[in-house]
Amino acid sequence: MKLQVNGRLHEVRHGDEALVWVLRDELGLTGTHYGCGIGMCGSCTVLVNGEATRSCQMPARAAQGQAITTLEGLATRSSGGEVRLHPVQQAFLESPLQCLWCIPGHVMTAVALLDAVPRPSTEQIEAHANRNLCRCGGYNTIRKAVARAVELTREEA
Ligand code: FES
Ligand code: FES
Repeated sequence: MKLQVNGRLHEVRHGDEALVWVLRDELGLTGTHYGCGIGMCGSCTVLVNGEATRSCQMPARAAQGQAITTLEGLATRSSGGEVRLHPVQQAFLESPLQCLWCIPGHVMTAVALLDAVPRPSTEQIEAHANRNLCRCGGYNTIRKAVARAVELTREEA
């Protein structure tokens, strides 16, 4: 079966496995992290048709025909070949966080938020930051990173 990931079609063999394992083990996209495996922590979040989705809870087969975006698919290249990070990636890169295990999930959740609501309120940012667990307790920093991403997006527009 085929999966469309980061704009490219990939042949994959293990359609009955959770999407997180197909992304990591078959496609080598290890930017998608695995934490709890029961849909609680959000570290495995990817975008499926733009929706933040816990990839440990979705069989890969169920994602056929849908556009999957992982952390690796966020950056773009300029015509000169220069890599340009997504504003959310840039904002998290500038933020002092600890182990970073949760961060891919927070980044993907924030990308989905900003795509849906380009200028989210403080309450919306907080609600989104709280959807995913951070065992290091970095919620304040994560909230600030999302607010910074809003600023960067505005500056780029
Ligand atoms: S690993 Fe998927 S929600 Fe925790
Ligand atoms: S920074 Fe360590 S789990 Fe969030």
